[in-house]
Amino acid sequence: MKNIRNFCIIAHIDHGKSTLADRLLEFTNTITDREKQDQLLDNMDLERERGITIKSHAIQMDYEFEGEQYVLNLIDTPGHVDFSYEVSRSIASCEGALLIVDAAQSIQAQTISNLYLALDNDLEIIPVLNKIDLPSANPDEVTDDIVGLLGCDPEEVIHASGKTGFGVENILKAIIERVPAPKGNPDGPLQALIFDSVYNSYRGVETYFRVINGEIKKGQKIKFVATDKEYFADEVGTLKLTQVPKKSIKAGDVGYLITGIKTASEVKVGDTITDALNPTQEIIEGFEDVKPMVFAGIYPVDTDEYEELRASMEKLQLNDASLVFVPESSAALGFGFRCGFLGMLHLEIIQERLEREFDMTVITTVPNVSYHAYTNKYPDNMILVNNPTDLPEPSTLNRVEEPFIKASIITKSDFVGPVMSLCIEKRGEITNQTYLTTERVELSFDMPLSEIVFDFYDRLKTVSKGYASFDYHPIGFRASKLVRVDILLNGQPVDALSALLHDSTAYGIGKKMCEKLRKLIPRQQFDIPIQAAIGAKIIARETIKALRKDVTAKCYGGDISRKRKLLEKQKKGKKRMRLVGNVEIPQQAFMAVLKLN
Ligand code: GTP
Repeated sequence: MKNIRNFCIIAHIDHGKSTLADRLLEFTNTITDREKQDQLLDNMDLERERGITIKSHAIQMDYEFEGEQYVLNLIDTPGHVDFSYEVSRSIASCEGALLIVDAAQSIQAQTISNLYLALDNDLEIIPVLNKIDLPSANPDEVTDDIVGLLGCDPEEVIHASGKTGFGVENILKAIIERVPAPKGNPDGPLQALIFDSVYNSYRGVETYFRVINGEIKKGQKIKFVATDKEYFADEVGTLKLTQVPKKSIKAGDVGYLITGIKTASEVKVGDTITDALNPTQEIIEGFEDVKPMVFAGIYPVDTDEYEELRASMEKLQLNDASLVFVPESSAALGFGFRCGFLGMLHLEIIQERLEREFDMTVITTVPNVSYHAYTNKYPDNMILVNNPTDLPEPSTLNRVEEPFIKASIITKSDFVGPVMSLCIEKRGEITNQTYLTTERVELSFDMPLSEIVFDFYDRLKTVSKGYASFDYHPIGFRASKLVRVDILLNGQPVDALSALLHDSTAYGIGKKMCEKLRKLIPRQQFDIPIQAAIGAKIIARETIKALRKDVTAKCYGGDISRKRKLLEKQKKGKKRMRLVGNVEIPQQAFMAVLKLN
């Protein structure tokens, strides 16, 4: 155990975590040149395209240092707030963390939030000043920032470049010298922490774990504490570039486990693995069931594809335990599913995977967060509102609560004004303002989650000219004045266009929605009135004027082939449209509420 080091890399997005991880793997000969591939750890197609690490992984390196052989386990952490729970479990599996800071960008919001997570878990922090090869690098100033943040000596900050490989040897030396070896009792009852799992269609779910006490052996009967299920450890091993089966994985080490589990939801990140016959009495703290934060309806464009959509969603859920869905029906769209996601990025990923991997064309309705509603009749009975149609009638409604977050924003001092205005517009309340340096300020706000899941991040980037970073965590439910804004087309309410909005913004947004829909819905043979309403009260109105001419009219003269071509073209254009009553609505209309500015 004394020669094992478990560490993770924490960084703000794009500060070079994946690139540096690749350099470590090369330097320790964990990957050969032939296997070398950019951003090796991001092996899902989507991940690579988006340039973000969506799922955490682990990899083991062997490294000889001063005549001794060391085992270094690098546990990768995802960089996006949607996946912050996974970050926290990866961090809990380590004794040390490389804190990567971009030498041009300095400390950003996720640098700090990840650092706090690492400090909460008593990790040894090794600060790394990365990208020092950049002409725009500011090594002295950024080192000062890091020293100010950590209270360390400037000499402790390692200068490095993932691009050129500079400093990599020093990083490895620091990992060995500064990160403590794991503690734990190798002879105690098995206690292992699940920090990740990956679905493999051939082998079932692969569970990644860190052994705290005892050992996990091939063939052993084990138990997952939170789910209380027992399995046989069909295969255990260490994670190199490929999986290396072993007879056992001992206290302090990291490995994978295959038990033949076929559904991702049976393996819960944060759960404890123990021996079924001699279970540990201690469970590892901090287990949480991952809760979806954003809900939206997903419907097939073609109503005949409902069953196919169900099958596709079930398959997706097998390998993504954080996706939840229940059937729902909409008067406008027919049968579909109400789905829960970790955040907007997760929603986009699922939508994209449905289209790419399953060839489904779907319509996604206006997303909303989850609210708690109470009626006058049963004021103590909480109703979970994941769908606008679940909100009780205004006259029967006692109160509503909505989820709040603590947001942390780091920006240049020049932009404090615009950032504050934006947060106040988004119903934020400032709780703290700290000057990290004379140039850089950290602002803390309590804000409703609903205000940030949609366009907040883009707006923040705009008002700060790109110089603001942002992170958040949930802080519970608070009272809210929530209303449901319904949209009527041609006098008919279209349930799939309803949105849950705060009273103070409902009128403005209702009006903008009508304007936007007028532009998005194609003209038809008749006038279409668009109205926004709260209950029976109309709050806004627009009209889509009727088409004046038949589109095929200019093909008079009977060139039938040309006419057919035009009609074919129209048909294609219709693909992403849904006929609601007698009005055709394109997909963008359902998401219009998200992009009103
Ligand atoms: P996420 O996984 O999205 O959090 O990003 P990351 O932190 O892993 O960053 P990544 O390694 O993907 O690097 C982000 C960008 O910075 C890429 O375009 C890299 O090519 C570039 N980059 C990384 N390290 C260096 C470096 O040392 N010097 C220079 N000049 N560019 C670098």
